[in-house]
Amino acid sequence: MLVLGIESSCDETGIALYDTEQGLLAHALHSQIDMHAEYGGVVPELASRDHIRRALPLTQHVLKTAARQLANIDCIAYTQGPGLAGALLVGTSIAEALAFTLNVPTLGVHHLEGHLLAPLLEENPPSFPFVALLVSGGHTQLMRVSAIGDYELLGDTLDDAAGEAFDKTAKLLGLGYPGGPALSRLAKEGKPGKFKLPRPLLHSGDLNFSFSGLKTAVLGIVNEQKALHGELPEATKADIAFEFQEAVTEVLTAKCMAALRETGLDSLIVSGGVGANARLRERLNQATARKMCKVSYPRLEFCTDNGAMIAFAGAMRLKNLSAEQAANQDHHFTVRPRWDLAELQKP
Ligand code: KG4
Ligand code: ZN
Repeated sequence: MLVLGIESSCDETGIALYDTEQGLLAHALHSQIDMHAEYGGVVPELASRDHIRRALPLTQHVLKTAARQLANIDCIAYTQGPGLAGALLVGTSIAEALAFTLNVPTLGVHHLEGHLLAPLLEENPPSFPFVALLVSGGHTQLMRVSAIGDYELLGDTLDDAAGEAFDKTAKLLGLGYPGGPALSRLAKEGKPGKFKLPRPLLHSGDLNFSFSGLKTAVLGIVNEQKALHGELPEATKADIAFEFQEAVTEVLTAKCMAALRETGLDSLIVSGGVGANARLRERLNQATARKMCKVSYPRLEFCTDNGAMIAFAGAMRLKNLSAEQAANQDHHFTVRPRWDLAELQKP
């Protein structure tokens, strides 16, 4: 079965073709980063308009790359939520219109389920059950994943998500958008021991996170340094970035290890944009190796938003889409800008 995946929840248009027998055939992505950079963040209306421009040319591109025709598509999976309402509506309406024309079923995919399953697209994928750390711009969650659709929340952020903390801290340091990659590049130049930031909730005894205090602590240092030097010297920025990244990755790593301990599982997967962070990967590789546990990541380009994870999540659910459901699609649709992962059911 050939599944077309469409991702348009935020600032990336991602399209992919996944074949349930042959695996991922082709994928393509258009990032809107350059367009939003001058505003310092995503402008929802511009995002929606750009998805309209990109979705069909990218679809034609993946079909050509995979040497397939529109008529070969058996199902269309699209991100139904959570995300920006207007951006979601673009992908959703394109998916439903195409599906109506091709007379194939659609599947509304949960964006976070896409992220969560992205490591399964790689070679030697982990098998269920495993602990998942989902670290994106909007989420920082630890989950016990027993099967597709069987997700038990173990811990969550009480305030900012890890990616959000990276983005806000990058802004305080005068770095561009998106802040995570820029901050982690700068951190490479930083020296240890110049500044000390808290490790929020490191010893809280539960699996929750809190990152907003960290950003406030960075603001304190920035103001102090500005009072001393006027503008922040580049070396000082790098030292702050270094310590910030150390603080976030230390807490994330410690909680992942605690989650493995508490669940008794020996396999961890990491997904979402912050999962691309090299220091986080280094720490997790070391910590899991010490405990003889396995850790799996998506390839770097599938950490951030992409169509492949949506096509794959759709394919996993398609296996169990009943003939009745498939035939009964009326192509009325809604998007779910807010959608709790816990509401998902096993297929
Ligand atoms: O998963 P994603 O593409 O979008 C959401 O669904 O939120 O994640 C984007 C987030 C942004 O906050 C971005 O700054 C962060 O992931 N990010 C990183 C890195 N690459 C992306 N954070 C830290 N280090 C990175 N290398
Ligand atoms: Zn995402």
